[in-house]
Amino acid sequence: MNDSNLDAEKRLAAEAAAELVEEGMTVGLGTGSTVAHLLPAVANRGLIGIRCVATSVATSEQARGLGIPVEEFDSLERLDIAIDGADQIAPDRWLVKGGGGAHTREKIVAAAAERFIVIADSSKTVERIAAPIPLELHAFGLASTLARLGAELGEVAPRPDTPPSPDGGVIADLRGDVGDPAELAARLSAIPGVVDHGLFPPAMVAEVLVGRGNAVERA
Ligand code: A5P
Repeated sequence: MNDSNLDAEKRLAAEAAAELVEEGMTVGLGTGSTVAHLLPAVANRGLIGIRCVATSVATSEQARGLGIPVEEFDSLERLDIAIDGADQIAPDRWLVKGGGGAHTREKIVAAAAERFIVIADSSKTVERIAAPIPLELHAFGLASTLARLGAELGEVAPRPDTPPSPDGGVIADLRGDVGDPAELAARLSAIPGVVDHGLFPPAMVAEVLVGRGNAVERA
């Protein structure tokens, strides 16, 4: 499938998700090319009283430019809904996120949401989760953390030409065999220096909207 067809699928999924936002809701806005379609769809609805937080500077800037109110994520304890893209979606709803390096903030926002909605084009559905798995690592002790990851879990390398996260973290990718995503997620979370990883568990996901051709599949 060519890029313009995939882009049309992203837009379909994003527009379906925008319909789930209601007046007065607190809303988490994800990051990426699929969310770039979500923002105008939300703005076009002219919803009164929504309060939004953004998972990246890029999303924040695009949203504000469209007239969507975005605030810092420091006083809201919970969100009614969060909507975000994904890099991989497995049949059991394990996700990989972080292709844009925003997975730490994305996971904080998803976890705070009553409903976390995933939007994607059809290329994101996979039979099983595979590498690369995005990581965010503390800059402090980076060489030591990389060495431990390499010894315990396999090849890992900072992502070339990628700026630090807004929180100062180093974006890296873990390669090699993923095996059981739950086991890998637990092992990554147990390594000091790993801020967070791009594996999102099924329990976090309320709904998956996948654009496929001219339709939106709900999983
Ligand atoms: C950002 O770090 C990512 O988690 C994105 O949400 C993910 O890569 C999906 O991006 P696209 O919508 O651009 O495919």
